[in-house]
Amino acid sequence: MKILVLGSGAREHAIILALRSEEADHEIFAAPGNAGIARDATVVDLDQNDPAAVTMFAKTHAVDLVVIGPEAPLVAGVADAVREHGIPVFGPGKAAAQLEGSKAFAKRIMDAADVPTGRALRAASRAELETALDDLGAPYVVKADGLAAGKGVIVTEDRAEALAHADAYLPLGPVLVEEFLAGPEVSLFFLSDGDHVLPLSPAQDYKRLLDADAGPNTGGMGAYSPLPWLDEGFGGEEAFVDLVTREVAEPVIRRLDAEGTPFIGLLYAGLILTEAGVKVIEFNARFGDPETQVVLPRLVDPLSELLLAAASGNLESHPRPRFADEAAVTVVVASEGYPQTPLTGRPLTGLDAAAAVDGVHLAHAATAESAEGLVATGGRVLNVVAVGSTFAEARDRVYRALAEIGLEGGQHRTDIAARVAG
Ligand code: AMP
Ligand code: GLY
Repeated sequence: MKILVLGSGAREHAIILALRSEEADHEIFAAPGNAGIARDATVVDLDQNDPAAVTMFAKTHAVDLVVIGPEAPLVAGVADAVREHGIPVFGPGKAAAQLEGSKAFAKRIMDAADVPTGRALRAASRAELETALDDLGAPYVVKADGLAAGKGVIVTEDRAEALAHADAYLPLGPVLVEEFLAGPEVSLFFLSDGDHVLPLSPAQDYKRLLDADAGPNTGGMGAYSPLPWLDEGFGGEEAFVDLVTREVAEPVIRRLDAEGTPFIGLLYAGLILTEAGVKVIEFNARFGDPETQVVLPRLVDPLSELLLAAASGNLESHPRPRFADEAAVTVVVASEGYPQTPLTGRPLTGLDAAAAVDGVHLAHAATAESAEGLVATGGRVLNVVAVGSTFAEARDRVYRALAEIGLEGGQHRTDIAARVAG
């Protein structure tokens, strides 16, 4: 198959590595890619957010499948344009992608589909905000409505901090104040063809910058999959996944279809397992980063076939994807100053030694080749990924590999998957 993958993160590198691991010999193009992706795909000079340019490239190169990694091209309408030209594309159109881009849209769909989620109040002014904070009480959850890559969200016990956060976003539009949901978080991905969904294996993401979940929210500092603790209380992964498929994914996909905005692509359900049951905290319209880096290495079935079946409306006859019974752990290496003001341009060393550790591979995010070798070009620089027969083994491997990597001022968490490694 000829496949074009849009995006430049470790998530896209993970998708490309999964496609590469298949027996089929795919021709893979990537835009804009990064230095790691360039080793595993042909990086092409193409604006990922330009619907006409992406369509033109896909047509002239007879691409069989376009896979959209990040949200920006979705919001820019790239999937709509490519689909209009009859080319299979894995990624929802602009309208359905609002499920991620607009928290208000997501709440409306959840209400209409009767999907369990926390209470939320919209505040358009300082007065409405104060009323909402007092109504829902501490801990306070305030979210900017719109794309803010996790940065528009604050969860705090401190009312003054919640107010200050909201003040920064209120001039840009209304904010949402949400009921605080307590419990472990799960990221569960569904492939959707607009009509039918197939679940992948769940993962847990570490959103905070520092160990023990301290520090600011980030795009994600590490992840692991599967979630062995689902055996307690949820009757295991299969029962849990069935429940979320039935109560969350299917009703949402049906609702979007009924509204004339079918969702074709990846439905990311961000869940909190509260004492009152599973509740949705957010949806994304794309694969999660860094969860993808631990979900896809465990996928047994060919990813290209699944993505193509979703993109062409053929998931109904497809069996549920199978996952290897092994543990996967990933740790993100981030630049100094991330997430506020990452310092970039610094050299990266030791990557070959890291990748040589048993069971380890690297997924690049913000890396580029320079005259001095590989350099870091952004906040989240790369992911070290390890697979093992147990979490203890995968964790040991991931941190042994990390010890080989040099990046001045580089940051990473040391507690990823510690709670499941025993
Ligand atoms: P979001 O961008 O909506 O995923 O929010 C980022 C992170 O903030 C989530 O992964 C949670 O850790 C936390 N969060 C968001 N909403 C809530 C909520 N209603 N209750 C508790 N934590 C939340
Ligand atoms: N890991 C969180 C996200 O992809 O949004």
